[in-house]
Amino acid sequence: MVVLSYPAGAGADDQDHSRTQQGFNIAPVRLSLHGRNHELVGLGSYLVNAVGGCNDCHTNPPYLAPSLGAVNQVNTAAYLGGGVVFGPFVSRNITPDKTGLPAGLTFGEFLQLIRTGIDPDQLHPQLGPYLQVMPWPAYRNLTDRDLRAIYQYLTTIPCLEGGPGEPPNRCGAGMNRSGFSGRYCEPVGGLVRRRYL
Ligand code: HEC
Repeated sequence: MVVLSYPAGAGADDQDHSRTQQGFNIAPVRLSLHGRNHELVGLGSYLVNAVGGCNDCHTNPPYLAPSLGAVNQVNTAAYLGGGVVFGPFVSRNITPDKTGLPAGLTFGEFLQLIRTGIDPDQLHPQLGPYLQVMPWPAYRNLTDRDLRAIYQYLTTIPCLEGGPGEPPNRCGAGMNRSGFSGRYCEPVGGLVRRRYL
């Protein structure tokens, strides 16, 4: 009789580890890993780049024009800098600002935003408090650890200027806490900061 058994190690930890590896393989931009938890950052990259599809909505345009042999290459220069228009809604810049906070949000604020869908910036109060288009009704079911991983990953990517509701010079002039110098903080081409409706 054949007894099928699964090795004790094939549990959540091993799966997390291979997703972490894959996350580092597919991160499209240079990451600033100083002082970061590598396991979480790799897992976060996996969740952002292979599962969440954040790039498709938060990078404008998300991919470079297809050329021979290169399909769907991420537009790294504008990576997660926001500015994609969905009717009256515009995706936000979710890169870290000069204080190192993604979209200017602390982890507590980010967690609250994903769990409740409430827009902390209230950019269109006439339509209610909730973020539109953004698939928070799905992401809200992620575990705390997965959301922490996504957040940690977002702290490691280069800062970009622009995006709805963002102040000018959000990346600062010199080194910011994410460890990136100003030269990484390029304005997103053609992106106009706007308040809409
Ligand atoms: C289907 C498109 C879409 C996808 C996919 C998407 N977003 Fe969004 N996101 C948006 C839009 C549009 C807004 C702004 C909504 C509004 O103005 O009501 C937004 C807003 C946000 C905000 C609010 C930022 C702020 O300044 O308050 C955060 C944070 C965010 N998204 C993170 C993410 C992350 C992380 C992912 C991937 C896990 C993701 N989004 C995937 C469309 C998307």
